[in-house]
Amino acid sequence: MAPIPSGTVRKDLMVKPAVLVEASPVPFFGFALWQLEACALLVAATGDFHIGMKGRFREVFTFENVEWCVRKLDYFPVDVFLFCGDLSMSKRYDDNVKRAVNILYSANAKYRFMVVGNHDRWYDPSLRRVLSAPNYLKLLDGEGCYLDDLDLGVAGTMGWYDYSFSPKADVDCERRERAVKATSIELKKLEAGLRDIEGAGVKVVVMHFSPTPETVRGDPFIGTCGSSAFMELLEAYGVDYVFHGHSHKCRDDCLEDVVRGVKVFNVSCDKRGFTPLIVEMSQFPI
Ligand SMILES: [Fe+2]
Ligand SMILES: [Fe+2]
Repeated sequence: MAPIPSGTVRKDLMVKPAVLVEASPVPFFGFALWQLEACALLVAATGDFHIGMKGRFREVFTFENVEWCVRKLDYFPVDVFLFCGDLSMSKRYDDNVKRAVNILYSANAKYRFMVVGNHDRWYDPSLRRVLSAPNYLKLLDGEGCYLDDLDLGVAGTMGWYDYSFSPKADVDCERRERAVKATSIELKKLEAGLRDIEGAGVKVVVMHFSPTPETVRGDPFIGTCGSSAFMELLEAYGVDYVFHGHSHKCRDDCLEDVVRGVKVFNVSCDKRGFTPLIVEMSQFPI
C-alpha cells in the first residue's frame, strides 16, 4: 500500500458526512482496523454536542447520538481526541454536564483536550482542575500542551467573532466594538497557548469559532462564525492543523480547507453525521 501523506483525512474510516442523524441511530461497526499503519499519529476531532438542546433539534442532539459518536473510537483508538466546544446547553455544572463530560472522558484516546463554546455557560475557569482528574481531559482556555512522546503540541481557546467574515453586516457600532474587544482577549489567549507549543514538531490548535470564512461558507450567520485575525496568528506561529466547530448551517462542501498553509477543519458533529473526523498526521507535515 502506498504511503499516506500527512494530513490525510481518513474518509475510508468514516460514515457519510454532513448528514443530520435522526433519533435511534444504527450502531456503526465499519472501521477497517487492518488499514491502520502501526505508527501513524492519529487525531480525532468533533464538537457541538449541544446536550439539552430544546426545540426541533432536541431529537438530534441527544445523549444517545453523542455516545454513538464517541463509541466509534472504541474500535479505533487514536492518540489525541479533541472536542471543539458547545458541549451542553446547561447554565450550571449540573448532572447533564457531568454526564456529557464523562462521555468525553471515555473517548478511546491517549490524550483528550477540549475547549468550551459560546453555549457552555456552565463553564467556570475553576473547573479546569476538576475536569483534568481523574482521567485525562484537559480543558484548554488559552494554554498549550506539549506531548513529548508524540512531539505534538496542542493549544486551544474558544475564539470569538468580530464580523470580519461579513464586513458589510449591518451591525451597530456598540455591538461591533464589544465583539472586537472579546476577540482581542481570545487572541491574546491563543497567542499564550501558541507560545507554550512553539518547539513542537506538529502544532495543532483547537477552537470553537473559526479562524477563516472558508470553512463556514454559506452560513447565514457567517459574521458571527469567527474572525480572520486568528488566522494571522496561526500562520505566524506555523500552526499545522486547526479544528473548530460552531457553524451548523454552512455548506456541506466547504468543511475543510488549507488557508495560508494551515489545514482547517470544521468538525461540528451534525455536519459530519455524528462521526469524529480522524486525521492522520506525521511529525513532518507536508
Ligand atoms: Fe454549536
Ligand atoms: Fe457555538
